Amino acid sequence: MTARIIDGKAFAAGLRARVAEGAAAFAAAAGRKAGLAVVLVGDDAASAVYVRSKHKATLAAGMKSFEHRLPAATVQDALIALVRQLNADDAVDGILVQLPLPKHIDEQAVVEAIDPAKDVDGLTPISTGRLALGLDGLVPCTPLGSMMLVEDVLGDISGKDAVVIGRSILVGKPMAQLLLAKNATVTIAHSRTKDLPALVARADIVVAAVGRAGMVKPDWVKPGAVVIDVGINRTDAGLVGDVDPAVFAVAGAMTPVPGGVGPMTIACLLRNTLVAAHRRVGVPMTTPL
Ligand code: GUN
Repeated sequence: MTARIIDGKAFAAGLRARVAEGAAAFAAAAGRKAGLAVVLVGDDAASAVYVRSKHKATLAAGMKSFEHRLPAATVQDALIALVRQLNADDAVDGILVQLPLPKHIDEQAVVEAIDPAKDVDGLTPISTGRLALGLDGLVPCTPLGSMMLVEDVLGDISGKDAVVIGRSILVGKPMAQLLLAKNATVTIAHSRTKDLPALVARADIVVAAVGRAGMVKPDWVKPGAVVIDVGINRTDAGLVGDVDPAVFAVAGAMTPVPGGVGPMTIACLLRNTLVAAHRRVGVPMTTPL
């Protein structure tokens, strides 16, 4: 079998077009554009690239983009003061503080300062708690985008066996919650897991989010499984995922790196911003996303 290649780039382009329609409708109804504020502290090269593409995509969707670049030496109180200022700014519907932050700053304290109504990253305790409770809320962008791809391929995933490799706050844990909410049987694997290959072998859905190049091997994967590769690892051979490309010969459908999950993350950030904007203003969304 050769896997169907899941074209995240094309799916994301469609989602961004629907968000742009929704953003135009919002601007007409609210008398202002939806706005996203992105905060970057320091000069991590990868983060600077992400922040630039978020800025461009936000403008292309017909939303306002507020970029805040702070020096690496910024103290925590100053960063939290900026977050509070953005919380109070009515033109700002979404706030994203790019992670990782410099080591002298407590990330959790900064995230907890974000108004949950503007938490387009879905990382505050309120957003995380609402997801765990199965309540409506803002969901982290990468797992949300991954879930859209899984459902596009499989439709109903009720009763399917899913293995999520990685338990990060940004991807693994929320991904597991989303799969569970759709009635999959979910296992979360991590660095202490015994016999990962045996777990993966049972899975109809494999989500790899560990940050280790080519870790998931073809002889682990059940023929026909849907494989979502969230890894973005910079190696001498270029950008590679957490899944060995040889898995394409075994899986039923699989995301490539690049061009799989990556483009979905930004599209979902724009989606979350539009959802937050409508909720804040109390206008119903007219465009299905
Ligand atoms: N760094 C890498 N991915 C993300 C993300 O989705 N959100 C934030 N805030 N930082 C990130």
